[in-house]
Amino acid sequence: MRVAVTGATGFLGRVLLPHLLTAGHEPVALLRASPGREPAAFEAAIPGAAARLYDPLEERSVCAALAGCDAVVNLAGENVLGSRWSTAFLERIRRSRIATTRTLVTAMASLPQAPAVLLSASAIGIYGPREAEEACTEATTNLGHDFLAVLCRDWEAAAHAAESAGTRVVCLRIGVVLGRGGGALAKMERPFRWGVGGRIGSGHQVMSWIHVGDLARLIVFCLADGGVRGPVNATAPAPVTNRELTRAFAAALGRPAFLPVPALALKALFGRGAAVLTTGQRVLPAVLQERGFAFEHETLAAALADLYP
Ligand SMILES: NC(=O)c1ccc[n+]([C@@H]2O[C@H](COP(=O)([O-])OP(=O)(O)OC[C@H]3O[C@@H](n4cnc5c(N)ncnc54)[C@H](OP(=O)(O)O)[C@@H]3O)[C@@H](O)[C@H]2O)c1
Repeated sequence: MRVAVTGATGFLGRVLLPHLLTAGHEPVALLRASPGREPAAFEAAIPGAAARLYDPLEERSVCAALAGCDAVVNLAGENVLGSRWSTAFLERIRRSRIATTRTLVTAMASLPQAPAVLLSASAIGIYGPREAEEACTEATTNLGHDFLAVLCRDWEAAAHAAESAGTRVVCLRIGVVLGRGGGALAKMERPFRWGVGGRIGSGHQVMSWIHVGDLARLIVFCLADGGVRGPVNATAPAPVTNRELTRAFAAALGRPAFLPVPALALKALFGRGAAVLTTGQRVLPAVLQERGFAFEHETLAAALADLYP
């Protein structure tokens, strides 16, 4: 399939594209146009991938960028911890996901042939902060009410609108993605290497994580399996507490981890956004397991051993 990927230059996109190529797909990276940005530079970095410039908020531009594509993977979005949570930044976070997804879906419907499938990113934040022992699956209906939960609900609703044009829609409720060179571990690596890493707040919050390679593989899996639709929890089957992640990560780096990061310090840095780090939820990948997806890294120990051999 020719698969358009928005947000392809990001942490997940850069890992996904080689997996799409290996699976025999033709990835087309949609890059936001900006001065000096050259699709050729992206194509040279990932041989076999095509790249097109676009404006994610301009329907005609999105239409042109999607020409000839059979499937869309929608990963675009402003980094939620990219800045302190001011009112203006929260609006940017919403516009970069909801307005862009609405424009994408309108553009898809106006093509001569709407793409057969849309896999759109969402996040486990949709379940809201939870007690450690409470497990969430895709069947959980009492979703959260905080900023991130409402963001994800609106983001998923914008994606599901593509169903009216006959497109199969999958919303990937992505957990904390573990990989090198981006995401949570890239932020943790420096303090831990300096020996000043530690648990966040109480450390009791549950972190439902996934190895970035498994995430790429499950995206390829969901593209191929026409029986997968609706919400899909993109998390490994064995979530851990932040305390457990801290200990395992420090051990993987061979460094100590005895300096807890106080919740108040994070609040000073990120404002309300600190809740992303100080709260959590136990999320299980029920749909993926029912459909027979095989995780390569089911446990945190296996994932970290692969990432930090
Ligand atoms: N990483 C995680 O742990 C995690 C967890 C849960 C959910 N997710 C979701 O998965 C998606 C991909 O995550 P990621 O870690 O790969 O993110 P990332 O590294 O921050 O990359 C996101 C990409 O989105 C595009 N983008 C950035 N700001 C934008 C804006 N204002 N408007 C439109 N596009 C914008 C950029 O691509 P271009 O500039 O090339 O267009 C960027 O490379 C995100 O939507 C994220 O919320 C990630």
